[in-house]
Amino acid sequence: MVTTHEQETTQRARDLYAQAEQSSLEYWADRARNEVHWDTPFTEVLDWSNPPFARWFADGTTNACYNAVDRHVEAGNGERVALYFEGEPGDTDAVTYADLQARVSQAANALESLGVTKGDRVAIYLPMLVESVVSILACARIGAVHSVVFGGFSAEALRSRIDDAEAKVVITADGSFRRGKPNMLKPIVDDALSAEGHTVDHVLVVNRNKAEINWVEGRDKWFHEVVSDQPTSHEVVWHEAEHPLFILYTSGTTGQPKGILHTTGGYLTQVTATARDTFDLQPESDVFWCTADVGWVTGHSYIVYGPMSNGATQVLYEGTPDTPHRGRWWEIVEKYGVTILYTAPTAIRSAMKWGRDIPDRHDLSSIRLLGSVGEAINPEAWDWYREVIGDNNGPGTVDADGNVTPGPRQDHPVPIADTWWQTETGAHILTPLPALTPDELKPGSAQRAVPGISVDVVDDNGKTMQDTTQGFLVIREPWPAMARTIWGDDDRFVNTYWSHFDGMYFAGDGARFDDEGDIWLLGRVDDVMNISGHRLSTTEIESALVSNELVAEAAVVGAADATTGQAIYGFVILTDEAAGTDPQEAEEQLRNHVGTHIGPIAKPKRILVTTDLPKTRSGKIMRRLLKDAAEGQTEADPTALATLADPAVMEEILSGMKR
Ligand code: PRX
Repeated sequence: MVTTHEQETTQRARDLYAQAEQSSLEYWADRARNEVHWDTPFTEVLDWSNPPFARWFADGTTNACYNAVDRHVEAGNGERVALYFEGEPGDTDAVTYADLQARVSQAANALESLGVTKGDRVAIYLPMLVESVVSILACARIGAVHSVVFGGFSAEALRSRIDDAEAKVVITADGSFRRGKPNMLKPIVDDALSAEGHTVDHVLVVNRNKAEINWVEGRDKWFHEVVSDQPTSHEVVWHEAEHPLFILYTSGTTGQPKGILHTTGGYLTQVTATARDTFDLQPESDVFWCTADVGWVTGHSYIVYGPMSNGATQVLYEGTPDTPHRGRWWEIVEKYGVTILYTAPTAIRSAMKWGRDIPDRHDLSSIRLLGSVGEAINPEAWDWYREVIGDNNGPGTVDADGNVTPGPRQDHPVPIADTWWQTETGAHILTPLPALTPDELKPGSAQRAVPGISVDVVDDNGKTMQDTTQGFLVIREPWPAMARTIWGDDDRFVNTYWSHFDGMYFAGDGARFDDEGDIWLLGRVDDVMNISGHRLSTTEIESALVSNELVAEAAVVGAADATTGQAIYGFVILTDEAAGTDPQEAEEQLRNHVGTHIGPIAKPKRILVTTDLPKTRSGKIMRRLLKDAAEGQTEADPTALATLADPAVMEEILSGMKR
């Protein structure tokens, strides 16, 4: 049965598409006026006089933190819970918008007391804690540009990001809890700052796991000590719409990560609007849970800015899905009555692997909408997600032997939003508005652009594809949340995204239309890999490998993996001096080397030591053959083989992969 709410949202979404169709600029101007509070209203919507450097709402002033926090308190919703924090060991905290306003104000005052002013960069290297959200918003409040570095990155990766952004302050924690053990962060910061020549004056340390840590007098300060004496109010400072809000580093096709720059007004408009529309978010009644880490763009846009700007109530969970047991997520859904769950296909596939008996024990009936992000969701995972998680209308029964019979199912399963977007796009670009078209959803397809965005699939010449074969995904018109540049490198911004097709943004993804004009994503067309929804570059890992003294040459490929989407495989030739090293020892040493260089997330699943790599006569490594080998093919493709200078190398590699 179709409820009144569904009829209303359906109508609302139809209206949005219709309005955007008439004029996308007017549409965005309208959304900006309605969803965001401006201190000085803007008069100009878009300045595209110097493409690809867009300026949106440029003469308006606003404040992202005010929009995410203060305005809800002023509207009388201060007692609404903003964050239900759930620590991995089971400690909890319910933080209201009024609490948050006080805590963010204290943190903003504290940063100012340390000399941080508008435009300064602050690196945030924190686990999933309330302090992470507080720190991000405090920066936004005073106009400091935050650069959040995911806690899984190594000291070296952290240092290069600190240096590139010239961060003045680092906010970190002693450590966090992960898989039941302390996961230390402060030692990594110490290590990152051990060499001279950095720009950091202060390191603020959140006291999370009470572990023993090293302390650098004068530089290190406890977060709680610095904030506790500060006033709980802080006057909002209004920033120009184009004032930089944050830098977020992401892997590109070359070794050096790119600092993607997002600014304030346009970004805030689009994350606020899409959080509302994609998820049909009802701040008064929903409990939203995005399982991403704040260290990635999904955490920025759909934990911090989008949902909070809407005044939503959210769950913030510190730990992993399988600690202390594999039902932890479902326990959390049940405990807080999560209504909207936004997660990644890799997590869904892990849950599938662990078996439906685990979620079936729990009451997940509060869920009314599901979201997916990070990579294409395979139809099996989509179906499972909808049936097992989305259509759970109460806990199953467990018999004496522990066998679970699923609880009741609804006849009206919940919709799924498969959202395609990127660090660079800032906010959702493609997704069905699932509340509009619950019966037209297609498992595995992100389907169509959100209202006001102009997406296309084009051929090599930038012409719209006329059939249903693979082309390139592009965005034809500027959009409010688009990246403004790569920090400190305008040329690279132009070259990477805007020089493939005239006047269009090149996303780096292959895609195709289906007969109905819906879009299906087909994975990256460049050297970027997607491991559990984390973006890593093959070149970056190859550089890490060859920086090791054992390695003369290295090739890295991303091979299909049933759980993580892709998995990293490295193929290395050892130097003459290292030629006698035991291959297993070399593999272990090199995996660890990549871990120290980039971070544990970048460790190859396997590294094969080989005497040669498959190269064409012009010396180019045929990565496709390596990928086939890593994916378990036992024979090399003869056509590709024929182009090699020495086809015999593949025999060694194929037999090596069998071991
Ligand atoms: O290849 C696409 C894939 O993730 C890339 C963007 O990675 P990142 O900047 O880390 O942002 C991830 C979270 C937004 C894209 O170029 N990707 C992301 N979402 C999807 C996807 N591929 C297919 N379907 C999706 N829904």
